[in-house]
Amino acid sequence: VPDVSLKVLSARKRGSRLRGLLLAVSLCGMPLAAASAQQSAAGSDLVARGKYLATAADCAACHTAPGGKTYGGGYALATPMGVIFSSNITPSKTAGIGNYTKEDFARAVREGVAPGGKHLYPAMPYTAYAGITDDDIAALYAYFMQGVAPIDVAAPQTHLKFPFNIRASMIGWNMLYLGHDRFVPHQGEQTQIARGRYLADVLGHCGTCHTPRDMMMGQHGNSLAGSAVGAWYAPNITPDPKAGIGTWSAADVTRYLQTGRTEGKAQAAGPMAEVVEHSMQYLSEDDIAALVAYIRQVPAVGASGAVARDSFGPRSQDEQTLRGARDVHDKGWEIYSGTCAGCHQENAEGNADYPSLFHNSATGAERPDNLVSTILFGFSRTVDGKTTFMPPFGPRALRTNQLSDQDVADVSNYVFTHYGNPKLHVSAEDVATIRKGGPVAPIARLGAFAIPGIVIAVIVIVGLLVWIFRRRGSKA
Ligand code: HEC
Ligand code: HEC
Ligand code: HEC
Repeated sequence: VPDVSLKVLSARKRGSRLRGLLLAVSLCGMPLAAASAQQSAAGSDLVARGKYLATAADCAACHTAPGGKTYGGGYALATPMGVIFSSNITPSKTAGIGNYTKEDFARAVREGVAPGGKHLYPAMPYTAYAGITDDDIAALYAYFMQGVAPIDVAAPQTHLKFPFNIRASMIGWNMLYLGHDRFVPHQGEQTQIARGRYLADVLGHCGTCHTPRDMMMGQHGNSLAGSAVGAWYAPNITPDPKAGIGTWSAADVTRYLQTGRTEGKAQAAGPMAEVVEHSMQYLSEDDIAALVAYIRQVPAVGASGAVARDSFGPRSQDEQTLRGARDVHDKGWEIYSGTCAGCHQENAEGNADYPSLFHNSATGAERPDNLVSTILFGFSRTVDGKTTFMPPFGPRALRTNQLSDQDVADVSNYVFTHYGNPKLHVSAEDVATIRKGGPVAPIARLGAFAIPGIVIAVIVIVGLLVWIFRRRGSKA
């Protein structure tokens, strides 16, 4: 009997233990399951946030080759140092960044150093991305690892000429030009302005193109005051009413960034068309408002004698009648009338589909680059599913459309004197330079001499630092 009771007891005990265990498991399991559901929801939130950040940072513009797969790399960036190919940044373990840890990713994006100590060229805008916050880096990493399809095809290798093929030379350059501070709002800075500053200076890297560069391709000061970008020119977008965009309303800037065209002012071609197409059109209303608010209050940088780019009207009708007879023999007018007038109209007044060529920042600028580049390379910009397209008349033009350097110079000069900045004049040689992708930067012309220059600069800086620390030390 006692045995039985014992057995019963132990069976009960076992039963209750089992039930207890089951209860415990199910009790723990419930929150566990809920937690993992919450976790994966948080995970997919993180991936979605990373995707939005990658759009705001325009990673796709450079990391997708024309007609290629998104983030597969191989986009050729024409720099004054030569062509630099972007990397495959899909999570492929053989051809992409699939073996990167989060720390590797953060270091590559913010400091320009890939695993194995490979120094990236600043064609990858890590000097701007240096400010990306730790939270945002985590979201970007989650997106690139989990939200992007791997592509197992390696991007082409970059082969620059000596000395630029020595990637370690970037150590010196980075000492001069790379900041290490993550973004934090300034004390007393309005929330909207701070967000705008983060979007413009860090994620959107507007300054990479719009801020002037020195001899060594470095940037310091005169933020957003205008700079050459290969064959194009990214104009002054500070609030100066003459040299910049100070006369543009907030709505004008917003329209430009969201659609690529603000009538009577400007349109986005070349690299800016890509910024609008891949990035700006997708920003939330709050973010675009913050970006515009920030851009409109940065310090104005003016140039004496500047005339607002969009202020030039058409030449007066009287003058045209007076000069009419001469114009017929003007080679530029002949090309204009045969090649451009079909779209931009006889008197360049344009229509709903084609912009007028007066009151147009591309023809009224202080420099001819954007008119000449538009004629040579044409452009295409897709916004909201609708493509705006101007055919090229340069190297990639249909045979029947090709214009020589002299033709492009003639038609440009005709457009400048009649509709734009009459002070501008371009020669066939100027056009040839732009056809080749723009002028070569001084640092590239220095060639092999650049290395000693960088080494000397590093020695000077290290020397200065040592001196400063010694002085501090001796004071202490
Ligand atoms: C203006 C063009 C440009 C933009 C925008 C850009 N990149 Fe790059 N990126 C490059 C180029 C060019 C390289 C290759 C540089 C080299 O070979 O030195 C590169 C390299 C990289 C690498 C190193 C890969 C490796 O191991 O070779 C990573 C990671 C990377 N980019 C991530 C990003 C992310 C993330 C973004 C967006 C936040 C981004 N890039 C935006 C041009 C760009
Ligand atoms: C990859 C280089 C590049 C980047 C990055 C870039 N821009 Fe531009 N931007 C240009 C170029 C080139 C033009 C001239 C386009 C044209 O006239 O067709 C331009 C034109 C503009 C204009 C019109 C100015 C005028 O008078 O015509 C505005 C406004 C502007 N950019 C704002 C921005 C803002 C804001 C950002 C950052 C979110 C930005 N850009 C990032 C290259 C760039
Ligand atoms: C088939 C029609 C077509 C022809 C031909 C054409 N264009 Fe255009 N052009 C366009 C379109 C479309 C745009 C862009 C409109 C927009 O951005 O919304 C444009 C834009 C421009 C711009 C502004 C570019 C910028 O950077 O802001 C200039 C300048 C220009 N064209 C000059 C010319 C000249 C000069 C010719 C003749 C050599 C010419 N176009 C021939 C359709 C044409």
